[in-house]
Amino acid sequence: MSKTKKLILFGDSAFAEVAFELFTHDSEYEVVAFTVNKEFLKKDKLFGLPIVAYEDVEKLFPPAQFEMHIALVYNTLNRTRAKFYNDAKQKGYKLANYVSTRAFVWQNVSMGDNVFIFEDNTIQPFVKMGSDIVLWSGNHIGHHSVLGNHLFISSHVVISGFCTVGDYTFMGVNSTVGNNINIGKDCLIGSGCLIVKDTGDGKLYKGTPNKADELSIYEKFGIKE
Ligand SMILES: CC(C)(COP(=O)(O)OP(=O)(O)OC[C@H]1O[C@@H](n2cnc3c(N)ncnc32)[C@H](O)[C@@H]1OP(=O)(O)O)[C@@H](O)C(=O)NCCC(=O)NCCS
Repeated sequence: MSKTKKLILFGDSAFAEVAFELFTHDSEYEVVAFTVNKEFLKKDKLFGLPIVAYEDVEKLFPPAQFEMHIALVYNTLNRTRAKFYNDAKQKGYKLANYVSTRAFVWQNVSMGDNVFIFEDNTIQPFVKMGSDIVLWSGNHIGHHSVLGNHLFISSHVVISGFCTVGDYTFMGVNSTVGNNINIGKDCLIGSGCLIVKDTGDGKLYKGTPNKADELSIYEKFGIKE
């Protein structure tokens, strides 16, 4: 892919390293530098590129010529990423999206900025996505669902059709949401959880209790053997 835009990555952690690989080999962006806050500046180069203090970034890489991506994970329930998302916007940076060429994103899906979509995601028609969202690999986002801002959706998460997910929510690996369900804001859905009712805000879910219904399938559906 030809490189038409220049990008600064915020962060120098494992996610920033992965983001560097994917932006470099699968996008129109050329990564030119990394940036972290001065107090976290422990080395001055990564992959041969400069790591500069965030406090100096506008002088060195002005927002008129460079875009930025905030490559942070879900610390403080996504609030650290949200903080720098807002701050970089305030500095005047355009916040770049990465959408893997190996993801299925239907043509009428809408999304904001600072969105990172890994390979093998399926995002069906009429989905609306906010800004500052990480969709790690292999999720299913069902048709007509609405995702808020500042989310982290791990891997192999299933969000069925007509669901909503509130701001700042984290969804652990292999969690599953039935259709027409509202996940509130500030929820932490643990790995493997199955959500079958609206959650409300600020809830932590762990585990997946399953129990057989009192009615058998034969009684419930009137099937005569
Ligand atoms: C939900 C979660 C945040 C719970 O964290 P926690 O409150 O610190 O829980 P703990 O690790 O102290 O475990 C407490 C108990 O809950 C159980 N538990 C924790 N998470 C669970 C889960 N997802 N499903 C079932 N049981 C779980 C533990 O086995 C433990 O049980 P015990 O008391 O019988 O030993 C965490 O386990 C989780 O699922 N995180 C998401 C992981 C993930 O998807 N990472 C992807 C990153 S890309």
